Amino acid sequence: MSAQGSYDTCDSDGSHDIADAGLAGAGVRRIEWADRSMPVLRQIRARFAEDRPLDGLKIAACMHVTTETANLIRTLQAGGARVSLAASNPLSTQDDTAAALVEEYGASVFARAGTDRAGYYRHIHQALEIEPDLVLDDGCDLVNTLHTERTDLLGSVKGGCEETTSGVIRLHQMAREGVLRFPMVAVNDTYTNHMFDNRYGTGQSTLDGIIRATNTLLSGKTIVVAGFGHCGKGLAERARGMGARVVVTEIDPVKALDATLQGYRVLPMDEAARHGEVFITVTGNREVIRPEHFAVMKDGAILANSGHFDVEIDVRGLTDLAVEVHHGIRPHTDEYVLADGRRLVLLAEGRLVNLAAAEGHPAAVMDMSFADQALACGWLARSHQDLGPTVHRVPAEIDTEVARLKLDSMDIAIDVLSAAQEEYLSSWRSGS
Ligand SMILES: NC(=O)c1ccc[n+]([C@@H]2O[C@H](COP(=O)([O-])OP(=O)(O)OC[C@H]3O[C@@H](n4cnc5c(N)ncnc54)[C@H](O)[C@@H]3O)[C@@H](O)[C@H]2O)c1
Repeated sequence: MSAQGSYDTCDSDGSHDIADAGLAGAGVRRIEWADRSMPVLRQIRARFAEDRPLDGLKIAACMHVTTETANLIRTLQAGGARVSLAASNPLSTQDDTAAALVEEYGASVFARAGTDRAGYYRHIHQALEIEPDLVLDDGCDLVNTLHTERTDLLGSVKGGCEETTSGVIRLHQMAREGVLRFPMVAVNDTYTNHMFDNRYGTGQSTLDGIIRATNTLLSGKTIVVAGFGHCGKGLAERARGMGARVVVTEIDPVKALDATLQGYRVLPMDEAARHGEVFITVTGNREVIRPEHFAVMKDGAILANSGHFDVEIDVRGLTDLAVEVHHGIRPHTDEYVLADGRRLVLLAEGRLVNLAAAEGHPAAVMDMSFADQALACGWLARSHQDLGPTVHRVPAEIDTEVARLKLDSMDIAIDVLSAAQEEYLSSWRSGS
């Protein structure tokens, strides 16, 4: 490998398609840096290397190609698996990580930063060439491709894991329609994933992306958070902590009431659009911000999305309204000039701002999500025969084990039930 040269992008035997193998050294350094903040996954890797729970299995994954994912792949390999990986979002692909995975860790990677839609799907197809026993998905596109275009491979898939809320929603729809052909584990639904990953990880990294892209001061700004789910709660809490006035928009009365009682101002988007200076969508829904909202926004309003798909801000509608677009006024920052001279600032083309303009969730958070993934793969390998072709929860023991290992790594001890307490909690006989 040359120290800095750019060569060998697409292997002739189809075992990888990456931008620049010469970046592998830089990738290894950053993967090891992330690993320092992933003590739980490290422990599981050591355990996997001894127990080999995935021996002989082939795993196809469609995930963000980041240093944290690289440490998950290393863990699956330590467990005995062969892994192929396609990028779940071309904007989040780190070319140096992709190079390191191919050159140093022996994975088959199909990912180039900024590839187009055709490249994205080509990479998913290439990753499936491994003929997987297990699949790992982040948004359900790989599972979808298997069920629509590669049905010849369905028979050998034992099961899989889904990492994100939007993917789990799609899987439930497939299961309801009776078309899902193998068990899928909703890793997203573990406490140690959605409580921490969505809340703290998305919360922090979304603001990080907005700040990196715009260098804006959040303090004193009116920030509109669309969606008060797991991600939205974390985001609102962090924005308020930085001195912003936070407005929440919702469609669910319970979530809206929760936001109100937490002290946020709750408004319909029609109204919020007039007040906001920064808008962030995290709903998992489409066209949450639309032309009628652009029409009343303040000059300079910043628009960012952190929901999984780039459908939450109606970018086409914005483009139609604009008389001029200044692309790349800063990295990941495009300015749309409207007929009356107002400028609206769209970040990361309406795609996941935390992955495009920042680095996604910090490694310390992904430590837990990927520990869940690794243990869920081990569970699937052991138990897939007993699981029907539907969406399954991760066993509670895995959640508890991951939380326990994380606390251990932080040197935090907790109390243990006494025998009398255990009996008290498990018996209905003792009265008040
Ligand atoms: N950026 C990231 O790194 C990251 C991480 C995790 C999840 N996600 C994505 O973020 C999205 C939200 O995830 P979540 O776990 O918070 O989901 P969630 O289901 O907990 O929350 C979504 C909320 O949005 C609300 N909502 C739906 N349509 C709306 C609309 N039109 N206007 C206002 N609110 C609306 C729902 O009522 C719900 O409260 C999903 O697409 C998920 O895949 C992104």
